[in-house]
Amino acid sequence: MSNPNINIQTKLIHPSGVANYNQETGAVNVPVYLSSTFHQESFDTFGPYDYTRSGNPTRQALEDTIAALEGGARGLAFSSGMAAISTAFMLLSADDHIVISEDVYGGTYRFVTEVLTRLHIDHTFVDMTDLSAVTESIRSNTKVIFMETPTNPCLKITDIKSIVQIAKENNCLTFIDNTFMTPLLQRPIELGVDVVLHSATKFLSGHSDIIAGLAVTKDEELGNRLAFLQNSFGSILGVQDCFTLIQGIKTLGARLQQSAGAALKIANYLNGHELIEAVFYPGLEDHHGHHIHFNQSTGAGAVLSFRLPNQEITKTFIDHVKIPVFAVSLGGVESILSYPTTMSHAAMPREEREKRGISDGLLRLSVGLEHEEDLINDFEEALAIAKQKNKVNI
Ligand SMILES: Cc1ncc(COP(=O)(O)O)c(C=O)c1O
Repeated sequence: MSNPNINIQTKLIHPSGVANYNQETGAVNVPVYLSSTFHQESFDTFGPYDYTRSGNPTRQALEDTIAALEGGARGLAFSSGMAAISTAFMLLSADDHIVISEDVYGGTYRFVTEVLTRLHIDHTFVDMTDLSAVTESIRSNTKVIFMETPTNPCLKITDIKSIVQIAKENNCLTFIDNTFMTPLLQRPIELGVDVVLHSATKFLSGHSDIIAGLAVTKDEELGNRLAFLQNSFGSILGVQDCFTLIQGIKTLGARLQQSAGAALKIANYLNGHELIEAVFYPGLEDHHGHHIHFNQSTGAGAVLSFRLPNQEITKTFIDHVKIPVFAVSLGGVESILSYPTTMSHAAMPREEREKRGISDGLLRLSVGLEHEEDLINDFEEALAIAKQKNKVNI
């Protein structure tokens, strides 16, 4: 039984739209099937599972959940976001070409530039906000357009439907990294995207505890090809982490809505501060992609970035904030401040970073669940010290 006309917030807990519990026992949580192998009924009668690398009921529950949330045909769970992304790229073959957002996550950049090139899979980085640049970068052997929107860390917005249109005209598949938005706020398959990818390490799990990746395909055939690759590489998510991720997904609605509300207030506060040169957050009306973003998403999310004048001021600020952790990653219950230059984008050469606006004064903030006034007061104090210490007279 399923109930399709149900709000995504309800689906986070009941993916099929009706009460989600174990049919045999009534347990409201999915059983953790810690079994690598499965007994087969007889010599020639095989059950749905044989070996956990190929399939496991706990993982299946997670894979069905993410497929239902994204509105896709098939979901697959991987050992990390990078495992999901790199396995999806393995749908390509030697001599193929990829068009990709220029400020993608540093790990995706590393995989595309240092691994795929060795396999003779070429790429062109483009500013995806410029649709004519995307069209111009397409070659006869282009097979995939890879989007990240909003981008990490500059929060640039790509018009998903227009990119899908360009891809269709050129017989390409579209992949999207939907980590920042999650299906709660953005469902790219409804806009025509073929493969949705996630670092589920972030908002989906939400507690900075596990490393996980998810992929969802629009159609079954592509899903089967990706499942074949998942089984071939073996980079599956372990069943205990599948359980943890299912539990995390159930509270995504409450977490992300609260964090996004706080992110908007913090973005407005930072926008009005004399020491901050720029704030990048699609929830701000003066953000370049604000209107496109709200045409394709229902919220701006909980990640923003902002630019301080230079590295010294940035260092003083970081040394004096007390509440956020200073760390890589995002999407946890704790606010996380990170410095893309030496953290998420360390894999990118300086010249490439600067071209993409990842300057020495850029900080990324993932807003957690602390009270927003405490965070704002903390920033106020740290910015005051940064201003004084560096004798900035504005
Ligand atoms: C946007 C984005 N995509 C992919 C990844 C990679 O995910 P994972 O660390 O789970 O492999 C990250 C990690 O920071 C990310 O921020």
